[in-house]
Amino acid sequence: MAKILVTGGLGFIGSHTVVELQNKGYEVVIIDDLSNTTIDVLDNITTITGVKPEFAQIDLRVKKDIKDFFDSYSVDGIIHFAAFKAVGESIHKPLDYYENNLGSLIYLLQEMRDRKLDNFIFSSSCTVYGQADELPITEKAPIKTAESVYGNTKQIGEEIIRDASTAHGINSIALRYFNPVGSHPSIKIGELPLGVPQNLIPFITQTAAGIRAELSVFGEDYNTVDGTAVRDYIHVVDLAKAHIAALQRLINNKNKESFEYFNVGTGKGSSVLEIINTFEKVNDLKLNYKIVKRRAGDITAAFADTTIANKELNWKTELSLEDALSSAWKWQQAQK
Ligand code: UD1
Repeated sequence: MAKILVTGGLGFIGSHTVVELQNKGYEVVIIDDLSNTTIDVLDNITTITGVKPEFAQIDLRVKKDIKDFFDSYSVDGIIHFAAFKAVGESIHKPLDYYENNLGSLIYLLQEMRDRKLDNFIFSSSCTVYGQADELPITEKAPIKTAESVYGNTKQIGEEIIRDASTAHGINSIALRYFNPVGSHPSIKIGELPLGVPQNLIPFITQTAAGIRAELSVFGEDYNTVDGTAVRDYIHVVDLAKAHIAALQRLINNKNKESFEYFNVGTGKGSSVLEIINTFEKVNDLKLNYKIVKRRAGDITAAFADTTIANKELNWKTELSLEDALSSAWKWQQAQK
């Protein structure tokens, strides 16, 4: 069976993807620098799948360490998650974000070029669309000037991959994630936000757990169903499975271009108040929240048109928002 390198494989989406790869029989080797996760995740993956993935603690900014890694491991594909991802922080630390998110990408692609490796999957984001003019958002929607340095690393990252794919014959796919949420049904792996969560669902679960006094709902004057902003929340297990589908497309030479990109969402938008109501209902609890001003930089609404991903990747979501919000709460309760 093919051996797949997963960078950032101990992170939120990475760990769920490792589990799905192993479930399909792939051999997995993980690179992670443990900068935003813990080594316990490796054991928790092993508990779920019964197979311990190989692991190398490497900082992908160190080119020589990447070279050494590829001297020891031969891989049939790479899924590249490792990156900084805090939108607010990225604005204050642009050079760190560009160095980390783009340096690592370039070094990996250089090794692929030099060693004639193929099949590269990249974590991209719906943030590349900004506030799209039309909803749902198709892959044809124009790329807007990035609102954040983080978003810009995803845009530039895609351009780097496109050019490297064309020049060096590396087949690659960028997956443009909408909002990943939830936890593995085993509740052994999930999202581990450090410090005060910036994203909605971890803030909700921490508020429900009493770690935060109150959730702030950012804005109720958007032009949406109830005035609160709308996003496309996708269960992380469904998102993980999209990576397997993309990998199989590349390995089986089913791709139509050397560089392709797909939206990965559910196709359904939910407002912040709808999320709160659903969370309260599925978990039978009440959340403390108040409405405050809009958060700077937030867009009104984003949800995916997934027609192309469904068809080309032969993939579709299987889990519901209720599944995601119930697993997110179980995961929160399991944290001590
Ligand atoms: C954010 C990033 C996006 C990134 C994604 C990763 C911004 C502007 N965008 O998306 O680039 O890819 O995270 O998951 O930061 N909300 C509240 N109260 C809260 C937190 C959030 O009302 O305490 C609202 C937000 O205003 C938004 C929605 O919940 O309408 C979702 O927010 P969030 O989870 O932060 O995701 P995005 O902003 O969509």
